[in-house]
Amino acid sequence: MGLDNVLLKISSGKPTGDYLKNKVNVLHGYIDRIRHIIDHIRTFSREQTSLSVEKIDISEVCRNALPILRTQYDHHQIILRLSTDPTVGFVIGNKYKLEQVVLNLISNARDAVEEKEKIIDDPNYQKEIKISTFYDDEKICLEVEDNGTGISEEDRNNIFDPFFTTKDPESGTGLGLSISYGIIREMNGEIRVRSHVNEYTVMRVILPKVDYGQSENSDS
Ligand SMILES: Nc1ncnc2c1ncn2[C@@H]1O[C@H](COP(=O)(O)OP(=O)(O)OP(=O)(O)O)[C@@H](O)[C@H]1O
Ligand SMILES: [Mg+2]
Repeated sequence: MGLDNVLLKISSGKPTGDYLKNKVNVLHGYIDRIRHIIDHIRTFSREQTSLSVEKIDISEVCRNALPILRTQYDHHQIILRLSTDPTVGFVIGNKYKLEQVVLNLISNARDAVEEKEKIIDDPNYQKEIKISTFYDDEKICLEVEDNGTGISEEDRNNIFDPFFTTKDPESGTGLGLSISYGIIREMNGEIRVRSHVNEYTVMRVILPKVDYGQSENSDS
């Protein structure tokens, strides 16, 4: 509709530079929003083509996600640290869905550090995101930690709700965490949040490890 309006304006006279600039900006915002929603919907469409549930090396999923992000993060001067425990075992689920969860958590961390940089106005602030995998209490954990804005106690109760967002309509649909939560529940896991406003947020994904000792041994 926006493009139709622009075309109409062009054919009915001479549109001003300001008019065009404004229209292009608005349309850009809409396109961003569409791109966002499509990114989320891809998780569901993948479900139909690759329903496969398999043994997944969670550290490998994190390692694979990194090159996709590295250039973008270097460009924005965000330090990305990865620390994976090589002895962490396997979890059961769909690799692409878990990858989507990791990417969602990291993109939230990125937004949080970018936002903090804007509001604190401290030239020494170093944006940092740490991704780690480890065992805790017989469970497999994946953590994404950032030193960004943090989440208020009130918001913490809502962040997993569909369409809950504190971001501009162009930059957030509020679907990332609710979709991620659904994926992790499907894998019999959970996501826990620790956060301190203006200091940090730690999102911890906790998954049961696969008890595959029996079947592997029986192969030999
Ligand atoms: N690491 C974080 N630091 C600070 N706030 C966070 C963090 N992760 C999530 N949030 C808060 O939770 C809200 C919901 O997150 P969610 O990922 O579901 O949606 P979104 O990021 O706003 O939009 P989308 O993921 O669709 O782009 C965010 O708007 C933000 O307020
Ligand atoms: Mg998000």
